[in-house]
Amino acid sequence: MKKILALILVGLMLFSLAACQKEEPKIDYNAILNNPDLTYSAEELAKMTEEGTLTVADVNAPQLYKYYEGLMKIGVAFGANQINDLETAEAKGILKNYNVYVLGNEMKPDYMNPAPDTWNFTAADRLVEVASLTGAELRGHTLGWHSQVPQWWFKADPNDTRSVQECYEQGALASSEQLIERLEKHITTVVTRYKDTVQYWDVFNEVLNADSIRRISDDSWWADIVGDVDGNGYYDDYVEIAFRAARAADEDGTFIINDFNMEWQASKTQAMYDMVERMLRKGVRIDGVGFQSHISVDCNVEYYRTQIEKIASLAEVYDECFPEYKGNFRVQITELDMNMFVGSIADKGYYTWKPEDFQRQAEKYTELMNMFADFAEEGVLDMVVFWGTDDGNSWLNSTPKIRRNAAMLVDRGEETNYLLKPAYWAVAKVGLERTANLIK
Ligand code: G3I
Repeated sequence: MKKILALILVGLMLFSLAACQKEEPKIDYNAILNNPDLTYSAEELAKMTEEGTLTVADVNAPQLYKYYEGLMKIGVAFGANQINDLETAEAKGILKNYNVYVLGNEMKPDYMNPAPDTWNFTAADRLVEVASLTGAELRGHTLGWHSQVPQWWFKADPNDTRSVQECYEQGALASSEQLIERLEKHITTVVTRYKDTVQYWDVFNEVLNADSIRRISDDSWWADIVGDVDGNGYYDDYVEIAFRAARAADEDGTFIINDFNMEWQASKTQAMYDMVERMLRKGVRIDGVGFQSHISVDCNVEYYRTQIEKIASLAEVYDECFPEYKGNFRVQITELDMNMFVGSIADKGYYTWKPEDFQRQAEKYTELMNMFADFAEEGVLDMVVFWGTDDGNSWLNSTPKIRRNAAMLVDRGEETNYLLKPAYWAVAKVGLERTANLIK
């Protein structure tokens, strides 16, 4: 009898545990985050900046994206683990400050389609669920890339245990048709699934080297396997195929091509311009170009402006080719962060940041956000996405080596409980000045 009672008790406990885990958060995040008391005048903002005591999840802290409403969206990339529990400071900071969310890793092809007919949607589904609580928009990153892509895509036999390099050397690479089929299947499956919930997609990421399409010599199998299908002399057919598949799956999606270094490398900007122009004229509707913007604190913002100007001028070609979608072409800032190891400390492994370093960073963010706001006012730039929630959650702490970078707007959690840095206040202030829609 005792045994039966014990079993019933354990059963009840397990049941209530499962019920607890399933329970949705009862908190009305939308109501809290849109509290009108959280809008501040310029004077109040200046006072809070000077005090510098607020943390990212502090209920009195201003909401970053609110300062840019009507001008552009303010987004953030994070790990799926950061939104498991929405009561953590990290999660609250995300929900409070941004109106576009991106998963930094868990919507990449190797994560979503690790093996033939194996799909992993858990993280993306959770993202959709969290966004539904606040009304944030979603960017899917990324449908195609040469990195973080399942290696079986490139093999003739998907179950081949040899590396892709070995398959290449031993004549066992996938054929052009096989790779195209796998790419199309991936894009169709993923875009269709998130048709109603993901507004923006990076369709392909980092397809260019300094001045042309990446080849095997640049660590990419794509161009060489897929080949010059249309015989026009360019090996970027896989990019075109990806955009066509995405459009077929979602007529209304906003499909972006995303790349790095265009901020300072004119040859790459030109190559991007030429490729996108060529594809637009062929009837491939590419809705915009993403500037990743992994910049440094010594970034030349005026030079960067000239590169955006060049890409923004593609809007004319887009309007000409797709008059029914006139005005839809845009530039997006997709992965903004700021490496602080520059100049005499560029190669250092450790550095104790001083208040003047954070001040310098705040000034650079001010300059940048004003430049972005100029393009937003012209209607060609619609969002700025920060690539990390805080200094501790940033790839710049491990690349090019393990060190304590300080790239983001918010301090590390373990020391200060995510104190808002001067850069955060600077970004809020630019928004306030440029939109003036919150001054009481
Ligand atoms: O998940 C594993 C974990 O299980 C393991 O213990 C740990 C040990 O190294 O690695 C974890 O995976 C890491 C993953 O991030 C998740 O944190 C990978 O090693 C690491 O390589 C991976 O880095 C990501 C990087 O892309 C890979 O290229 C960064 O988080 C991500 O921020 C970064 O994002 C890219 C954009 O997609 C494209 N533009 C550049 C940008 C920065 O590199």
